[in-house]
Amino acid sequence: MKGKVIIVTGANAGLGKATAAQLSDLGATVVLACRSKARGEAALSELMCVDGRCFDLMPLDLSDLDSVRSFAAAFAEKYGRLDALINNAGILGRHRELTRQGFELTFCVNYLGAFLLTMLLLPLLEKSGQGRIVMMASVAHGWGDVRFDDLNFTRGYNRFAAYGHSKLCCLLFTRALAEKLRARGSRVTVNAVHPGIVATDIVVNRANDRFRWVASLMKVLFMTSDEGAKTSVYLACESTLDHVSGEYFYRCKIEPSSTESENLASANRLYDVSLKLCGLDDPLKS
Ligand SMILES: NC(=O)c1ccc[n+]([C@@H]2O[C@H](COP(=O)([O-])OP(=O)(O)OC[C@H]3O[C@@H](n4cnc5c(N)ncnc54)[C@H](OP(=O)(O)O)[C@@H]3O)[C@@H](O)[C@H]2O)c1
Repeated sequence: MKGKVIIVTGANAGLGKATAAQLSDLGATVVLACRSKARGEAALSELMCVDGRCFDLMPLDLSDLDSVRSFAAAFAEKYGRLDALINNAGILGRHRELTRQGFELTFCVNYLGAFLLTMLLLPLLEKSGQGRIVMMASVAHGWGDVRFDDLNFTRGYNRFAAYGHSKLCCLLFTRALAEKLRARGSRVTVNAVHPGIVATDIVVNRANDRFRWVASLMKVLFMTSDEGAKTSVYLACESTLDHVSGEYFYRCKIEPSSTESENLASANRLYDVSLKLCGLDDPLKS
């Protein structure tokens, strides 16, 4: 991976931090895309404790589409190339909250922000030899259908339903984008991941540290972040995957996903709706 440039979103904690460490140990320059300067800097100094690693830290708040646009522009200006984008950041929201642009927070952080980031960085991925996109999904994608009539959960909000819905959107985006890239002969691939059930701070309330005890209990029962990160790293690096795209992986193997997540009509519809929500023209329109 020497000479390769990789972005990992949400790289200051849990799976993102472990993914960043493993990729840099393979020789890549890893850009840590983090929303909090303080948490990003703390992670950076921890990650830099190992000799030979190369990181950069850049601000990215996926709940704010203006921040996503600023990040993409700053990254393009600074690096001019991108070999892999790991769309790792995610939340398990507590209450229904709206973002600056009026989207439901879980939908925006877990899916729409990553959608916009990916679309803005596609030209840089296409410029590199074989650009790769990794979408962090979850087994929770199978918990429901896409709510085309209520993407922002104005009715019946439930944190788990909103989380599962956002992950289904990530998988549908993976399907739609893979088809569109294939159709235009692009060498860029996109695949989705379920990392396993991993003991991280995803359950902890960042504002007041509530549920820290749940995270501690998880450590006894579930996978470590280092183990969970392996599939994302595999998808970013493995040379036998050059032509594998639009798949769902768990433990470095292709896995079946829910029937709804295989629905290409829904995938294309969500893609079109997402472009509109982001105010983007389709960069892949032939
Ligand atoms: N843990 C599991 O069992 C599991 C299972 C399936 C899928 N996943 C997925 O794996 C991914 C990583 O989760 P994790 O378990 O490692 O959780 P985590 O330890 O809570 O890490 C989540 C990361 O996302 C960042 N983030 C949150 N909101 C953000 C925003 N608005 N903009 C940019 N970054 C933001 C967090 O930053 P802060 O530190 O600033 O909050 C943190 O760096 C998520 O997509 C999650 O859904 C996890």
